[in-house]
Amino acid sequence: PVLVVDFGAQYAQLIARRVREAGVYSELVPHSMSVDQMLNKDPQAIILSGGPASVYVDGAPTIDKRIFEAGVPVLGICYGFQVMAHELGGRVDKAALGEYGKTEAVIDASKGILQDSPASQDVWMSHGVAVIQAPEGFEVLAHTEGAPVAAMQDPARGLYGVQWHPEVTNTPLGQDLIEHFLHDCAGLPSNWNASNIIEDQVQAIRREVGPHQVICGLSGGVDSAVAAALVHKAVGDQLTCVFVDHGLLRKGEVEQVKHDFVKATGIKLIAVDASDDFLAALKGVSEPERKRKIIGEKFIRTFEKAARQVVEQAGQKGEEVRFLVQGTLYPDVVESGGGDGASNIKSHHNVGGLPDDLNFTLVEPLRALFKDEVRAIGTELGLPDEIVWRQPFPGPGLGIRIIGDITRERLDLLRDADAIAREEMTKAGLDRDIWQCPVVLLSDVHSVGVQGDERTYGSPIVLRPVSSEDAMTADWSRLPYDVLATISTRITNECTGINRVVLDVTSKPPATIEWE
Ligand code: XMP
Repeated sequence: PVLVVDFGAQYAQLIARRVREAGVYSELVPHSMSVDQMLNKDPQAIILSGGPASVYVDGAPTIDKRIFEAGVPVLGICYGFQVMAHELGGRVDKAALGEYGKTEAVIDASKGILQDSPASQDVWMSHGVAVIQAPEGFEVLAHTEGAPVAAMQDPARGLYGVQWHPEVTNTPLGQDLIEHFLHDCAGLPSNWNASNIIEDQVQAIRREVGPHQVICGLSGGVDSAVAAALVHKAVGDQLTCVFVDHGLLRKGEVEQVKHDFVKATGIKLIAVDASDDFLAALKGVSEPERKRKIIGEKFIRTFEKAARQVVEQAGQKGEEVRFLVQGTLYPDVVESGGGDGASNIKSHHNVGGLPDDLNFTLVEPLRALFKDEVRAIGTELGLPDEIVWRQPFPGPGLGIRIIGDITRERLDLLRDADAIAREEMTKAGLDRDIWQCPVVLLSDVHSVGVQGDERTYGSPIVLRPVSSEDAMTADWSRLPYDVLATISTRITNECTGINRVVLDVTSKPPATIEWE
């Protein structure tokens, strides 16, 4: 893989994605990982990300110099570039002029990572510290007003660095730079694409599963549907999908999944109504992490029951279902603290929320993938657009969209409000413009309203429409006011107990997409 070393930048995941868009497999690792561990991964190239620190501050994160002597091509970006310059004996100091945002870079030599570049480029900068002098052996490729060395290279040692952010779309020629580094400087072919991923995964799944029975937890969302289709391609009828109605689903979802999925894929499906069980376990629980753990555990217990049913139906007494397929994605792993050294933001029910006494071996063919890659695979596998382009819906469902205890009454109320919001957004043709729109019920908050001359004391509904590329970062969507107005009017008229509709206008970070 190409290792992207994370120095704490919000852009590290973005770099990893851009590398994959260039057709090269990439993995994120924390800067705290030892150089030996990094080299054990047999990296084809290494990219050092940006970060919030300054290299000359005490305790600033750094990297063992040996990384630059291992014979692996390295590209340093922003902070990573400064670390490289600093470690190799260049001069890094406070910039005479900090540069934030769009900046003009003057290209001094269009070669290496900047080959074919025009004489100047618009680039996206964010730095108050600059490389004043490149280390010995390096050639300066570009400068800006505030950065005497804005790009440099030492091709003999395979070392490259750039002060600006090539990974953001605000640097129009940024992807070219990344591709020049990967293909021309590091000599890596472009071979990471949907059909190769499918082929690799199908082989890997066959090897792992052998002749055994497999079940797949199907949520109705893109991820588990694609995971199921992939496993089905690998082991055919050894796969049975289990769809759990945990009582936290949206309106119409049970019927939709049962019908659409089976029709599209022909995969065997068992639907289980476990809502009493889930809701009893969640009674009185309002703390988000506890909700997630309970839901994660209940899912597994439900799958265990379903597994026994599968064995009975297959008439293979004595045989057990050993494998459970989940549609876990790379961002789930990273955000649940399961990535190498990442911190735990929330326990996604299918990663950090799993019980300790798990008897299944997990099969997670999408564990290294981002959402756009999963969609590409889904399409390649022949899944219809209605499944591939469904907006994400979290496994714990409405359970993490009721702020407070979960009761059937509150669920019904939220289900109605959510259905109205979805219906109006679809009617306005907004489904592909937004990434997803959680609708949240603040059950423990009450405010005064007036309806038909009567005082009301009801709860608010929050609309949380976001746009995003991969759910790791997101911005709030600027929905047309008339659509918001219609949704608000309908929800307050049709959902008794709701007397206010509010719009969440926070990006991620600092907020997350879901409220819990
Ligand atoms: P957050 O709220 O972490 O959400 O910004 C990022 C994306 O993940 C979804 N999400 C989950 N999906 N199990 C899931 O399958 C979970 O426990 C979970 N929590 C959040 C969320 O809807 C968004 O798309």
